[in-house]
Amino acid sequence: MPTLFCSRHLPADALALAHGRATLRLPPEDRHLPPAELGRQVEAAEGLVCLLTDTVDETLLERARQLRVIANVAVGFDNIDVAAATRRKIVVTNTPGVLTETTADFTWALLLATARRVAEADAYTRAGQYKEWGLTLLLGGDVFGKTLGILGLGRIGKAVARRAQGFGMRLLYHDAVRDPAAERELGVVFESKAAILAHADFVTLHVPLLAETHHYIGEPELRAMKRTAYLVNASRGPVVDEATLVRALQEGWIAGAGLDVYEEEPRVHPGLFACRNAVLAPHIASASIETRHRMARMAVENALAVLEGRRPANPVNPEVLGDEDGPRGAAGA
Ligand code: DGY
Repeated sequence: MPTLFCSRHLPADALALAHGRATLRLPPEDRHLPPAELGRQVEAAEGLVCLLTDTVDETLLERARQLRVIANVAVGFDNIDVAAATRRKIVVTNTPGVLTETTADFTWALLLATARRVAEADAYTRAGQYKEWGLTLLLGGDVFGKTLGILGLGRIGKAVARRAQGFGMRLLYHDAVRDPAAERELGVVFESKAAILAHADFVTLHVPLLAETHHYIGEPELRAMKRTAYLVNASRGPVVDEATLVRALQEGWIAGAGLDVYEEEPRVHPGLFACRNAVLAPHIASASIETRHRMARMAVENALAVLEGRRPANPVNPEVLGDEDGPRGAAGA
């Protein structure tokens, strides 16, 4: 049986899928493995199931001579050097779809919490400061009827748009490709990025992290936003220039920000801690019990499919499967 190494202790229902189909190996303790240790572990593995906190780069792949599949337990896969894996005919898979609605829910949780100052209100109440109802106590910004700008109209961007309909919002979007079907179904209006920044009351980011989207929101973009506008980021941290965002929040270029992701996770820019107009979450947008189980099961199934010589449901480098020779070792699988 092929060896499948999981870098972390996945839920039991996901691990059980490998029973009788692969020899499952797990680290003795459920903690992040330093790169050298991860490298040692994958040396003898044909399959790797990993998290977005595992860096799978050229150095690691150099050691993983038998590896045929890398199954990321995430929809994003910027932690993996896909080009390096593809050169070695290693299939890379992700977990799209199963986390879309949960991530959209959390995007809204951040948006509402930021506009209506929920985190500040909670801290205020717990601290025993609520002594008297006040007409101007913790005033926030309205959400209903405002303009929402969605940058990146993929699955999650669309799910966010669907929810916005209940808030009677005007919906603008920008993406590399225009989506006429979504425009008809969701009432989203295609605009330039510049127009969205200038007109939206809320700007929410749903682009993948690519070379082109690194610091997609930097000083020019933050200065272009309305002073009353809010930024929400549940995509990837490096999409936003975090140091500049701190200045924007401190100096009132924008009204606030709701963040689930950071440039150098798990480090959070210390300036953000002092910004009361920021709501900060530790990368939990997909963290519902049901969704995390679905993601883990999907990743293990993807890995097993490749190890069993089948096409996985979610390849991110399908060209490896399309090759005449197929993926590494497929013939014998
Ligand atoms: C992903 O899947 O890419 C999220 O960031 C974690 O669920």
